[in-house]
Amino acid sequence: MATFATLAYLVAAVCFILAIKGLASPETARQGNFFGMAGMAIAIVTTLILPGALSGLSYVLIFAGIVIGGAIGTIVAQRIQMTALPQLVAAFHSLVGLAAVFVALAAFYTPEAYGIGRFGEIRAGSLVEMALGTAIGAITFTGSVVAFAKLQGLVSGKPLVFPMQHPLNAALGVLLLVLIIWLCLSNAPAAMWLIVLVSLALGLLLILPIGGADMPVVVSMLNSYSGWAAAGIGFTLENNLLIITGALVGSSGAILSYIMCKGMNRSIFNVILGGFGGEATTAGAAGGGERGAVKSGSAEDAAYIMKNAQSVIIVPGYGMAVAQAQHALREMADVLKHEGVQVRYAIHPVAGRMPGHMNVLLAEANVPYDDVLELEEINRDFGQTDVAFVIGANDVTNPAAKTDPASPIYGMPILDVEKARTVLFIKRSMASGYAGVENELFFRPNTMMLFGDAKKMTEEIVKALES
Ligand code: TAP
Repeated sequence: MATFATLAYLVAAVCFILAIKGLASPETARQGNFFGMAGMAIAIVTTLILPGALSGLSYVLIFAGIVIGGAIGTIVAQRIQMTALPQLVAAFHSLVGLAAVFVALAAFYTPEAYGIGRFGEIRAGSLVEMALGTAIGAITFTGSVVAFAKLQGLVSGKPLVFPMQHPLNAALGVLLLVLIIWLCLSNAPAAMWLIVLVSLALGLLLILPIGGADMPVVVSMLNSYSGWAAAGIGFTLENNLLIITGALVGSSGAILSYIMCKGMNRSIFNVILGGFGGEATTAGAAGGGERGAVKSGSAEDAAYIMKNAQSVIIVPGYGMAVAQAQHALREMADVLKHEGVQVRYAIHPVAGRMPGHMNVLLAEANVPYDDVLELEEINRDFGQTDVAFVIGANDVTNPAAKTDPASPIYGMPILDVEKARTVLFIKRSMASGYAGVENELFFRPNTMMLFGDAKKMTEEIVKALES
């Protein structure tokens, strides 16, 4: 049985690795999801048929849990809006953290069931694993709850900064270390409960100072933390698959956070330590440059300009996601292609509000993958392009990132849309984007603003193109 379980776990681990590999590209993402589901099914079935898996429970109870949890998951997945995915992920991470705390507490009070000694006489090694799993799990729990509340708008997205915040966090970190040592030396329940309390407080204090704007990076970081918590608990349970899965989640979450930070020109260390993002509130800084008159146009104007163009590059952003304009956009591209216009899409690494946000939406609208190009593949082409069609994007095109060292987005690579002969911007107003920085491109002579909802305006352009 043990050999079978090891083999089955190995197959599940390979499935998880293939899942992560598949999710790296929109073309293979569905296949990746399939591998993930298959791996999880193998893991659950194998764990349930292992001798001693029930330890007092009945299969009825376990299946009731699976059915209830599965039903909730299915309903949530069907109802969730694409734009609300970051907070959903945060909510799910909070549960992973809480589960890690519960497993560690269960192992602490009934170590016999886990084969790690007797209550009050648990080996120091197991206590260290347990304490780390508990601490990371509790930090992930409260941190994720705060992230959820900020993203959902239940609490202010503004950074909550207070004096002595970093020394307080450092003091709590040291206290946590002292408590872990005390637990290992004494097996004292008080030490275990204090670890839980201090870690819960640390999770709150680390995430509260971070602005809602920077939450997606934090969510990815908490995803990584939840993986490490699971890996820690895997050691306690002596479950190799949990260790492998936890390490996969932990490392891929950390790599994703790094990529997001790089795309936004943030420091990863500030994210890990908490308390960055304050800069974003100083936004509002003007982008610099001269202000001309704003030229606004109609759907008919846009249709005329694009119909007479040879090449159009579409730059989608958060506003396209909000308006769900991707289907109308593909229709527009189809009509233009039919007229002999070359149409491509330029994707900025942090356009929208989560990694791959634009790719997922465009794939949903069946935009051919070959037409979708990353920043570094297409940025040079704007100079030889007739029209840059910016739909609901703002920060990712803002030249302040190149020219204004005081700007919160300074240093972020941007799409050089201003180099195109004409720049069309669909948005509802002159409002700034996520970083709160005014975009001087709106005032340039080669820019035409198309004020309106992204979906409605694009549908009107399609109509004008067809008439
Ligand atoms: P933003 O800079 O946020 O600009 C989006 C624009 O869309 C807004 O200026 C808004 O202007 C417009 N808009 C909103 N709803 C609209 C609608 N229904 N129809 C038409 N326009 C609409 O978006 P971006 O250019 O995609 O940049 C992304 C930003 O998010 C970056 O600053 C990035 O650092 C940040 N961020 C991204 C991520 C990831 S991983 N993608 C994670 C965290 C942060 P109006 O209100 O005038 O319409």
